[in-house]
Amino acid sequence: MKIAFVGKGGSGKTTLSALFIRHLAAVGAPVVAVDADINQHLGAALGLSEDAAAALPAMGARLPLIKEYLRGSNPRIVSADTMIKTTPPGRGSRLLRVREDNPVYDACARRVELDPGQARLMVTGPFNDSDLGVACYHSKTGAVELCLNHLVDGRDEYVVVDMTAGSDSFASGMFTRFDMTFLVAEPTRKGVSVYRQYKEYAQDFDVTLKVIGNKVQGPDDLDFLRAQVGDDLLVTVGSSDWVRAMEKGHPPRFDDLEADTRHALRTLHHAVDTGYAGRDWERYTRQMVHFHLKNAQSWGNAKTGADLSAQVDPEFILRETPADTTPREIIDAPGGGMAACASGST
Ligand SMILES: Nc1ncnc2c1ncn2[C@@H]1O[C@H](COP(=O)(O)OP(=O)(O)O)[C@@H](O)[C@H]1O
Ligand SMILES: [Mg+2]
Repeated sequence: MKIAFVGKGGSGKTTLSALFIRHLAAVGAPVVAVDADINQHLGAALGLSEDAAAALPAMGARLPLIKEYLRGSNPRIVSADTMIKTTPPGRGSRLLRVREDNPVYDACARRVELDPGQARLMVTGPFNDSDLGVACYHSKTGAVELCLNHLVDGRDEYVVVDMTAGSDSFASGMFTRFDMTFLVAEPTRKGVSVYRQYKEYAQDFDVTLKVIGNKVQGPDDLDFLRAQVGDDLLVTVGSSDWVRAMEKGHPPRFDDLEADTRHALRTLHHAVDTGYAGRDWERYTRQMVHFHLKNAQSWGNAKTGADLSAQVDPEFILRETPADTTPREIIDAPGGGMAACASGST
């Protein structure tokens, strides 16, 4: 399952995604955490030292490797250079899974020890001026989008992305990649205006959007959020002493997290799990193709000098094919169907 934390800068996306990641790791769930926020703080929020956080490999800097790997032997993608952030997988592409080792994780992910549990962490790397303000080719979030579009994940495994609610995620289709989008909003007009904007973009794409009210201090704050957000308000979080201690450089044990915040995390987890009735992979694939064609036309074709619509494999539907549920006839297929399947998926 793919989960995004979005919202205005300073609303608490990174704080709450880090807490949610810790919660998932603590219950033993496999987690890939991705920092795609403009301000790269997820590593620190997960307890990494400044040096360790600075040493994390940046996905943005490893885009050629990511493209080359994902392209695999897909004949429709003639070179990594013609791959843009929305280029969808097709037959021959290599797919990613939450629970595996692969060259993309080797290059871009690091294991972070939490207490208890662990998660895999990937970071886009710091944004610079050329990444901001233009809705076209953000190489940083582009690397994340490519990975998400090639990632076949299922129930009981979690990909948690900390990201900005910026226009680039709407232009590219990134916002449609999630089974659950948590919009973090403070009880302020600015906080809920980001919610409204997101909701508007999201409604045509069946995006499941839930609001987490953050830094909510009393009945007035709660009433305000209820009035502005209605049933989309899932849960509220108050000012957390645990978070404040962490900010002061005294990371407490996760076990010591106050009961209210812990309860809020359980509510998030429950909302994700109960809201997931399996993914509609056909729709999921159709959406990525839709945004690819849109991006190809608006800038991709001009940038690469190729007709990128030809990258779409009309026969291909991304879907979950875990090894243990591979149908017998595929395993028994003449010529080692399993081997053919594996070469396209590892
Ligand atoms: N529930 C909370 N309790 C206490 N401090 C919080 C809480 N949520 C966020 N903060 C603080 O607010 C600041 C901004 O939070 P952050 O998660 O970095 O926001 P964002 O990622 O949305 O920019 C940080 O200093 C963080 O520690
Ligand atoms: Mg942040």
